[in-house]
Amino acid sequence: MKTLLIGGTGLISSGIVKALKTRGADITVLNRGRTEDRLGEGIRYLQGDRNDFTAFEAMVAAAGPWDVVIDMICFNPAQAESDLRAFAGRCGHFIFCSTVCTYGNTQTILPTDESCHQSPLSEYGRNKVACEQLFLRAHAAGKLPVTIFRPSHTYGPGGPVINNIGWGPTFIDRLRRGLPIIVSGDGHGLWQSSFSEDVGVGFAYAAGNPRCFGQAYNIVREEVFTWDQYTQRTAVAIGAPAPRLVHIPTDLLVAIDEARFISSLGEIFRYHGVYSSAKLRRDVPEYNPTTALESGIRQTVAWLDQHKKIEPAESDPFDDRLVSLWDAFTHDTVKVLGPQK
Ligand SMILES: NC(=O)c1ccc[n+]([C@@H]2O[C@H](COP(=O)([O-])OP(=O)(O)OC[C@H]3O[C@@H](n4cnc5c(N)ncnc54)[C@H](OP(=O)(O)O)[C@@H]3O)[C@@H](O)[C@H]2O)c1
Repeated sequence: MKTLLIGGTGLISSGIVKALKTRGADITVLNRGRTEDRLGEGIRYLQGDRNDFTAFEAMVAAAGPWDVVIDMICFNPAQAESDLRAFAGRCGHFIFCSTVCTYGNTQTILPTDESCHQSPLSEYGRNKVACEQLFLRAHAAGKLPVTIFRPSHTYGPGGPVINNIGWGPTFIDRLRRGLPIIVSGDGHGLWQSSFSEDVGVGFAYAAGNPRCFGQAYNIVREEVFTWDQYTQRTAVAIGAPAPRLVHIPTDLLVAIDEARFISSLGEIFRYHGVYSSAKLRRDVPEYNPTTALESGIRQTVAWLDQHKKIEPAESDPFDDRLVSLWDAFTHDTVKVLGPQK
């Protein structure tokens, strides 16, 4: 199975390559050669920038045709159009990595499945929907067999450990030192997290599978936890003390610093993120995401430590300043409005 990954050395794509190796695929990755390469032996490389459309299309045409192409880094319709020029008629199966952010927050049923209406909140989600539609139209027109994958939060070595209010690099240091951790709302928002190597198996075993042609799949580990539980379990996983969780209203956080919070908390983490992968498990039975949150977090934090990517809490005083103001507000409000002693 002659397979091209556009990207290939990134977080999810490294997991796909690992699983494709298990399948014995012939693997080529196309990227700029900037991201750390953890792929090991037996990979072919094409070096280039996918946004240089003329050079990109010529390079992949010359190296093709392909049995399977997996595009991990298509984020807008111009890139999707470039893919269609490059691969229509030269590719047996095209897989597009989209996102659950295409659904937005209008779902009335949880877990969200692929039949739910797509009404994205963010520009990122709207662009991914536009790409999905371009690819599915090309599929319907018989130009190339297409499959859409919609990952939810996916983490692992090569990426950060997120927290409920963002992906700032001080979270792990705060946990280790027992500093307060801000969780938005009442901490009961629902969340799922999937380990990158598990997600890679789903992509790799869908590759070339005719049951997947013309289909869209959520790809998640379906265990659901609250953000409080996520934070507490992350602390346990890394041997940190039980964290003091400080619950602050989401609207207040966004009002304080919209630029800081909008693309994480404001558009994503404030909403329940609960999705079904039943359709994928039906069509790709090899997809069996078994990595427990604790194990995945330990592997990710080991990578972050090794690469010195964990920042000390002092490098971002925002959380401590906000917690002390919130504590004072809570204390004063209870004193003024609470039952008089
Ligand atoms: N992680 C999540 O929680 C999550 C959730 C939903 C959806 N997704 C989707 O997952 C995809 C990201 O997957 P990933 O984690 O494997 O990717 P990634 O970590 O973002 O890695 C990016 C890869 O693409 C290459 N690259 C970046 N810009 C390039 C360019 N202009 N030309 C050629 N190569 C380029 C990088 O190598 P070089 O830097 O060396 O070029 C690297 O191999 C996106 O489509 C995203 O929407 C992720």
